[in-house]
Amino acid sequence: MARSFGPVIFVHGGAGNVAPDLVELRRAGLRSAVANAWQLLAAGGCAVEAVEQAVKTLEDDPAFNAGRGACLNRDGEIELDASIMDGRNLAAGAIGAVKRIANPVTLARAVMEAGGPVLLVSEGARQFAAAVGIKECGADALVTERQRARWASLWEGNVERAGTVGAVAIDRSGHVAAATSTGGLPLKMPGRVGDSALIGCGTYADDRLGAASCTGDGEAIIKLALAKSALEFLQTGEDPMEAARRAVGELTVRTGAQVGIILLDRYGRIGVARNTAQMICACIRNDNTDPELFD
Ligand code: GLY
Repeated sequence: MARSFGPVIFVHGGAGNVAPDLVELRRAGLRSAVANAWQLLAAGGCAVEAVEQAVKTLEDDPAFNAGRGACLNRDGEIELDASIMDGRNLAAGAIGAVKRIANPVTLARAVMEAGGPVLLVSEGARQFAAAVGIKECGADALVTERQRARWASLWEGNVERAGTVGAVAIDRSGHVAAATSTGGLPLKMPGRVGDSALIGCGTYADDRLGAASCTGDGEAIIKLALAKSALEFLQTGEDPMEAARRAVGELTVRTGAQVGIILLDRYGRIGVARNTAQMICACIRNDNTDPELFD
């Protein structure tokens, strides 16, 4: 099948219930993320640059559970996970449980570019960041009033989880990439690393298949390696929408967990599925520069 689509950028803002006052803020943030990434793609930039740019825009936006605005762990601290993968050559980089890094996706990309270990965590990731010139921010720089208040209310059983961010893209040369970034689960155990840091689970990209980014209950996503599993459905010629639905359907049957996924196949066709009430997504495709929104 000949590739029939122009570049595509597709992003999500996390699966789960979104607080009513955050819905419009998230829609606006996702529109900005795809618009910023699209500028790179339209100028001939590569897919990996586009997904990093999209995720970075969302990490800087306090309406999402990533970078600034991330949720707090059991001890009231922010620990961040992120990963990125380049479908051209299967290059991948990831970081887990890092503190004081404003843009974890950029640190993950630096890990990928260094070409050694794929995943760095905690203190080792901090030392690597210093070595490549990525500065730490202050302990409170990423903590928002909303997340502080939420942390306090969560102890009273008010569980609400959503806001992981992710992006998939295909560039004019037909190369794909994916990236995901999160603060993880509210009240998580310190040191807990979720699917967003794990290649094949929260993030996967391979020019032979496509690209995927997941959101939701990280433990279930890890057990079923959701991103890679969904892309493998494409190998048998499955439509991307059907592949996404089948992957989420199987996970639902096997685990009962709440998740969502966005993906692209190698022709630039999109797939999206969730078993949650909401997962706001935005896309620019077919050289139509107006972002399409999916709720
Ligand atoms: N999917 C995000 C997490 O579980 O950490």
